[in-house]
Amino acid sequence: MRALSLFLVLSSVAEAVSIGQRRKIVQSFNVRRTKSSDSTPLQVGNGNFAFGADVTGLQTFKPYAIMSTWGWHNFSLPTTPGQTSVDDYTGLQMWTHGRLVPYEVPNPAQNDISNWLRENPHRLNLARVGFDFGRKDVTEDDLRHKSQELDMWTGRLSSSFVYDGSPVRVETWADPNSDTVAVNVNSKLLRRSLGLFFDFPYPDKEKFNAPFVGHFNLTSKHSTALDQQSPNTATIKHTLDDTTYYTHISWSGHGNINGPTNGTHRYTFTSAQTNNVRLTITFSSAPNPEPTPYPRVTAASRAWWNSFWARGAFIDLTSVHDPRAHDLQKRIILSQYLTTINSASSYPPQESGLVNNGWHGKFHLEMTLWHTLPFARWNHADLVRRSQPATYEQILPAALSRAQAQGYAKGARWGKMTDPQTGRSAPGDINALLIWQQPHPLYFAEVEWRAATAKRGRRGSSGSAAEETLARWDAVVTATADFMASYAWWNASTGVFDLGPPMYPVSENTDPNATRNAAFELAYWRFGLDVAVRWKERMGRPVPGEWVTVRDGLAPLPMADGTYAVYEGIEGMWTSNETTNDHPAMAGIYGLLPPPASGPPLDMDALKKTARKIKELWALDFSYGWDFAMLAMNSLRLGDPEQAVEYLLHPIFQFDDAGYPVGGSRVPTPYFPNSASLLVATAMMAGGWDGDEGKTGHWPKSWEKHVRVEGFLPAL
Ligand SMILES: *[C@@H]1O[C@H](CO)[C@@H](O)[C@H](O)[C@H]1NC(C)=O
Ligand SMILES: *[C@@H]1O[C@H](CO)[C@@H](O)[C@H](O)[C@H]1NC(C)=O
Ligand SMILES: *[C@@H]1O[C@H](CO)[C@@H](O)[C@H](O)[C@H]1NC(C)=O
Ligand SMILES: *[C@@H]1O[C@H](CO)[C@@H](O)[C@H](O)[C@H]1NC(C)=O
Ligand SMILES: *[C@@H]1O[C@H](CO)[C@@H](O)[C@H](O)[C@H]1NC(C)=O
Ligand SMILES: *[C@@H]1O[C@H](CO)[C@@H](O)[C@H](O)[C@H]1NC(C)=O
Repeated sequence: MRALSLFLVLSSVAEAVSIGQRRKIVQSFNVRRTKSSDSTPLQVGNGNFAFGADVTGLQTFKPYAIMSTWGWHNFSLPTTPGQTSVDDYTGLQMWTHGRLVPYEVPNPAQNDISNWLRENPHRLNLARVGFDFGRKDVTEDDLRHKSQELDMWTGRLSSSFVYDGSPVRVETWADPNSDTVAVNVNSKLLRRSLGLFFDFPYPDKEKFNAPFVGHFNLTSKHSTALDQQSPNTATIKHTLDDTTYYTHISWSGHGNINGPTNGTHRYTFTSAQTNNVRLTITFSSAPNPEPTPYPRVTAASRAWWNSFWARGAFIDLTSVHDPRAHDLQKRIILSQYLTTINSASSYPPQESGLVNNGWHGKFHLEMTLWHTLPFARWNHADLVRRSQPATYEQILPAALSRAQAQGYAKGARWGKMTDPQTGRSAPGDINALLIWQQPHPLYFAEVEWRAATAKRGRRGSSGSAAEETLARWDAVVTATADFMASYAWWNASTGVFDLGPPMYPVSENTDPNATRNAAFELAYWRFGLDVAVRWKERMGRPVPGEWVTVRDGLAPLPMADGTYAVYEGIEGMWTSNETTNDHPAMAGIYGLLPPPASGPPLDMDALKKTARKIKELWALDFSYGWDFAMLAMNSLRLGDPEQAVEYLLHPIFQFDDAGYPVGGSRVPTPYFPNSASLLVATAMMAGGWDGDEGKTGHWPKSWEKHVRVEGFLPAL
């Protein structure tokens, strides 16, 4: 509370970053391309829907995706006897503290249904929309003077090129309020040969579909049908097994849609009597959605993006002389645009957002923390509310029955890799034994409580926002903490509560049967139970005794060689490259998490030595990118903002020309937890944290006087 009131005082004297200045900064990073990228599109979108374009502003030469949060598909179930139904799947039992517990892992005796459950449902690429030049052999090289600009201030993608001596100008927009892309084309060629094509793919079983999703040559596996309803509208119905959805196309002036071309699902739009055509293309699972006229899409897009940039928190590094500040500013701006389009959805996003598919388009609940936290930290509560706590409420029944089937006394065990349709945990050894996703709802709840009470202070209002927050999260908070208390296991010989075995720690690379008391998970259990206890106290309700008993009896954080260790009893902590690999989660106990509010304090010398050892010995070239942001946050709390900036600009932590986070050696591009984590770390640089004595910023010395920030609350 002390830190909060300090913040409120400081924020009233902090210099605002004017709308004009924000606009100048945002637009200075507008993306410009003169050819299509082989790995990333330029996108317009709204968080639940996005359209990926090549250099033509459509998908003419590169079939980048059009994806949504609702477009999913199942392949038919296996026909193998005994594996023809989801209910046939049993998973496997594993010894867990002297009893056999069923886990959702692949069962070798049930390979077909295990695989089916992992691969289904999978996310669909809805369609491809491109220019039809009236002949088949046109390539990108046949276009001259190609140029495009993505204006992040309005959400407009402008593209132009010359074909056959004639200029073509294209604008591409997405509607913030529906799954609609709007396209404006200006060209004399429209009177001659230029048209637009629409094509429809069928999905495949690959875990990663990147950079493109689906196949356009599996035409016999699915069907399409054209219904031209009026001279200005047409609907194409696409049926893939049990999935059906509709593409509604409206246009200005005269036009016609024909197709499909023999043996394909390709339709062609032509408009012979004009130099200008405006189309809106709406995707929906319902046959007749209300069409959104072109001017409404463009006006809504401008208004939405203007307000996004004007109302959000802001960091202005333009007066800092260090060239690194420019790179960091660029990453900050582009990451905000891209995470909003790709991750601000009604369900947690997949790691590749709406660009392409990873893990079949499913989402990982442990990554939800990275994906969603930036919106909370950058003052976009409306975007957090899209999925929180609704997603947890929706999958609560599945999580409660998982915990019950596993014989735990109480609570909800959150799965890992899942989808919005079934809430199942996809069969997988790691999926079933990872536990650090469990306390996430408590982190979200606490951050939201923070925002609600800070506002109350400023407005001096009744506190109803705080009460509403307490009530809204209470069921999820309770079920989450109940499971955490049930899961911790009383080890009578050591007299402490153990976590695991079996378990996978954050780094997912240890022997689960030997992994006990991983450092980050223990710290996170304490943090989570502290939040849950406070939650009940704030509500004036009794605190379940077992929450306190478990919290106060948790095993101590494991140490090795004067540092924090991955888990208790790990061998060769700093001498084997097996143990200095993957996510360095020990940096999270003082980076992502605040110091403990209960129990023994952290050992500052050990934290510093751990940070030094990670810097010297960790195999960072094999890290997933959000490790760099976690290490940066750890550096900040350890008082080393210089090192934090170095981590955030580390040569392995890469973003491409359009700001897409490069996947690196282990996952395809883009890998959005990188962008999100960069925003969480920079919010901490700008807003500080509780107990940092009200410092307004944590920047390298030479930056301090020149940075301007607005709208941040302190981190936990
Ligand atoms: C896929 O099948 C599951 C049942 O296993 C069902 O809940 C889900 O709605 C189906 N999704 C689609 C797109 O057919
Ligand atoms: C862990 O132990 C279970 C038996 O409970 C066994 O089936 C499994 O293969 C072991 N896992 C590893 C990675 O050794
Ligand atoms: C079908 O298209 C895919 C790309 O989507 C390609 O890899 C494959 O070779 C094509 N198959 C045939 C028979 O053309
Ligand atoms: C249409 O496609 C079928 C099979 O793909 C082919 O046999 C037939 O010749 C095609 N007809 C035309 C007019 O192209
Ligand atoms: C109790 O903890 C000790 C130390 O971590 C461990 O070696 C032992 O296996 C645990 N006991 C049981 C029954 O798991
Ligand atoms: C560990 O180091 C050895 C020797 O440098 C190397 O061959 C091996 O690939 C490394 N293992 C990992 C997991 O990085």
